[in-house]
Amino acid sequence: MIAYFNGTYLPREEISISPDDRGFLFADGLYEVIRAYNGRLFKTGGHINRLNHGAAHLNLGIRDFSYLSEVARQLLEKNGLTADATIYFQVTRGAAPRGHAFPEPSPEPTVFASASPFDPAPTRLNMEKGIGVILVPDQRWARCDMKTVGLTANVLANQQAKEKGAKEALFVRDGVILEGTHSNFMAVMDNCLVTAPASNYILHGITRKLVLALCAENDIPHREAPVFATDLPGLTEAFITGTTTEITPVTAVDGSPVGSGLPGPVTRKLQKAFAARIEEDCGKQA
Ligand SMILES: Cc1ncc(COP(=O)(O)O)c(C=O)c1O
Repeated sequence: MIAYFNGTYLPREEISISPDDRGFLFADGLYEVIRAYNGRLFKTGGHINRLNHGAAHLNLGIRDFSYLSEVARQLLEKNGLTADATIYFQVTRGAAPRGHAFPEPSPEPTVFASASPFDPAPTRLNMEKGIGVILVPDQRWARCDMKTVGLTANVLANQQAKEKGAKEALFVRDGVILEGTHSNFMAVMDNCLVTAPASNYILHGITRKLVLALCAENDIPHREAPVFATDLPGLTEAFITGTTTEITPVTAVDGSPVGSGLPGPVTRKLQKAFAARIEEDCGKQA
């Protein structure tokens, strides 16, 4: 596959990254994943804005990554990806002798991007049937709004879910169900969709934002407010959202059913609206 590395397109296996790279040494960097349908990028602007947000807060040497939308398009083209695909971006502060503070002079940031074919079948199955999740204590730091490559807590929590036969782990902080290891969390209670407010304790998901907009467009009552773990018995529906998970119903939490234990009508309505939006932006799905 052809990838992008610091301004050049080249075969992925020819890329080598310095052992002094601060992404490797300190997880001092950011990443993004963009989805393409029918070879067309979906919601690119939101992903680039979030990368720029992280870059500004990390004081990276590059703060405007808008050029990466063209890089993403090129990668789809160069790799002949005309159907479902994902684009992965990773940017770090660059390579410099090891030291915690920002290196002086500032190194050139490392910018990597690659494209891969994406098999939508497992997601579609989960979207149809729903998934079981577990709750885990949130042991992450307090800047989850930046999509940094420091994902140790997410890795450990997701592995815990896998070992328990669940598909995702939801982080709970001070009794509040915040989000998943790679997804946002939404619940329906008292006929209202509720999701954690966009604070520093969650990633401001691009899919989350679109789902809230679809609620507004489809007259689905919704609010951004904490969902407490103690609210679980009263939920009628729940789902997770994400670039690769789209809108996946959560039918069980820690082995107990959510509502009827089946995907509910609000989830189904939003899945339909979401599919329609993909079709509008990227054409009809196979
Ligand atoms: C921790 C976390 N929350 C939420 C999301 C969902 O965000 P998006 O909808 O932008 O993919 C992700 C995606 O990877 C994530 O890693």
